[in-house]
Amino acid sequence: MTALYNVVVKNRHVEGENIAVMEFESATSTTILPKIEAGAHIDVHLPNGMVRQYSLCQNPAETGIFRLGILRDPESRGGSISAFDELKDGMQIQVSAPKNLFSLVKAKHSVLIGGGIGITPLITMAYQLADQGESFELHYCGASAERCAFVDEIKKGALAQFTTFHFKSEGASHREFFQSAIQNIDAESHIYTCGPNGFMDWVINLAQTQHFPEHQIHKEYFQVEVETGGDAFEVVAERSGKIIMVNAEETILQALAREGIEIEMSCEQGVCGTCMCDVLEGEPDHRDVYFTDEEKASNEQILVCCSRAKSARLVLDI
Ligand code: FES
Repeated sequence: MTALYNVVVKNRHVEGENIAVMEFESATSTTILPKIEAGAHIDVHLPNGMVRQYSLCQNPAETGIFRLGILRDPESRGGSISAFDELKDGMQIQVSAPKNLFSLVKAKHSVLIGGGIGITPLITMAYQLADQGESFELHYCGASAERCAFVDEIKKGALAQFTTFHFKSEGASHREFFQSAIQNIDAESHIYTCGPNGFMDWVINLAQTQHFPEHQIHKEYFQVEVETGGDAFEVVAERSGKIIMVNAEETILQALAREGIEIEMSCEQGVCGTCMCDVLEGEPDHRDVYFTDEEKASNEQILVCCSRAKSARLVLDI
């Protein structure tokens, strides 16, 4: 199991429209929170029992705290509502150590493009690149300055000179801007994007049409609509010696748990990679956004919280 830190919530306040900005510090004087990397996130164990991933949003040079910005999304499955409504100053909760699936790569130039609350991991990257004197630009796209968080901090701080805001309320269209700006981005640049799925898909598609290779396009999905249903199939848990039917409406993870095989999991959305299992036989039907296309094509591993099988039988090394 991943080590957990006991933390206390502090400095919680609301910015923009329904975005709770808060810091966590260690609940004990004997434990110090680890230093964070740009792009990292933590698992937050919420008061309603859910575990959700949130990007860290601070200057990585700032140690001893984790800072988050959490949007209250009424369409969510309850994680962001619990985080926004129930986490209050002084409350003690548990969080994981930082994990990074969205690391910065050393590059000649970096282009950071955030949509709405997706700006959070890009802020950590921007602070780090600015501190290191690296070449980069930050683009913050959103409905309006009033609805977005961290706008004042960016405008008045060290990131101001590197940032372009694209707020619809001010007549800015990020699509028009990037359609022309992308042609002037150096071909060796690395592009990082985070935001709503449609926004990210648009950015990724634009970068691909400009022939940026996959390894220069970095993305972090923070909320994914994942279809987990499909035809029933059989899973063989090789090490446990069990053969388990995965019914049409359940996930492999749920079917395994029903038979007493517990797999460590976290997001249950195919985002974090925690529930990864090795595939010994059979063809997975990958539904996640965690693996690259190459990894999916190799069929060596599967994320059992959301993916299914194309073959009638899947043999897993569990
Ligand atoms: Fe996160 Fe499966 S639990 S990918």
